[in-house]
Amino acid sequence: PTKLVIDTDPGVDDAFAIALAALSDDVELLGVTTVFGNVGLPATTHNARRVLALCERDDVPVAAGAARPLVHPQWRQARPVHGDDGLSGRAHLLPEPRRDDEDIDAVSLLARLLAESREPVTIAAIGPLTNIATLLAAHPGAAERIARVVVMGGALGHGNSTAAAEFNIFSDPEAAHRVLTGGEISCVLVPMDLTYRCAVSADWLATLGARGPVGAALEALTPAYLAHYRKALGRNAMALHDAVAVAEAISPGMLRTESVPVSVETSLGPARGATVVDRRRPQVRAETEEPGQDRPTVAVAMDTDLDELRAFLL
Ligand code: BDR
Ligand code: CA
Repeated sequence: PTKLVIDTDPGVDDAFAIALAALSDDVELLGVTTVFGNVGLPATTHNARRVLALCERDDVPVAAGAARPLVHPQWRQARPVHGDDGLSGRAHLLPEPRRDDEDIDAVSLLARLLAESREPVTIAAIGPLTNIATLLAAHPGAAERIARVVVMGGALGHGNSTAAAEFNIFSDPEAAHRVLTGGEISCVLVPMDLTYRCAVSADWLATLGARGPVGAALEALTPAYLAHYRKALGRNAMALHDAVAVAEAISPGMLRTESVPVSVETSLGPARGATVVDRRRPQVRAETEEPGQDRPTVAVAMDTDLDELRAFLL
């Protein structure tokens, strides 16, 4: 099975994504690392541990990482979407973790898991990219131990944090720039354009809820989240962004990708955090670039079989 680490900021959709990996026979979940994002770091860390407890996976180590972005220390939490506790005000419904906190930070745990694994490790990065950028900067040998990083983030059309930017990239654009444009690691980018299209309906959610205690507990986290997405999508459905990225991490090829250069806007202007995905034909692109200026490419997820994906998530 694929060896996987999830870097996350739970977050309602992160909770679904963690459960998906924690209960899958097709991956070995080596660890979960946490980052600030939807809410502050103490809450995202506690939430990650609660979701693992729900799945009876307290054996999976959890380590807390960055509490704020790399360069500009302010970020905007996503409380209107995920609630004040990150889980729609319902985190207390989940079981308390049964295992003590790891005495190690996220970047050190990532480096250790990469070094210990005999096979390259996949990282699903479903929050701001601060921990992953720090890993690359602090541990130069780490990149070659990474099979690929599947990033939920970015927008080709409109964003959600701002008109231009998607939340995970907007929360730390400098980190995203480092990870996506450094050319050190193989990256898959799962943008919100696709995750919106993969939204699951209220009926899908009811089916999940009837499947057993984990499904029921996940469904119980969603009323406020679903209410937000009813407005965002204009129908009775919600986007499980992070679970779509983890599905690809578990089952490579689940999403259809295009390998293209991606730039991240790091100015402080209105496009801050935008992902500029260069889908021009390579011949046209080449005409406008200096010779030898080939930019590294990122596999950007454009499409999937929606029925198959939703069945897989279920
Ligand atoms: C991303 O932002 C967060 O709010 C979600 O958990 C997801 O990772 C979607 O834009
Ligand atoms: Ca997330």
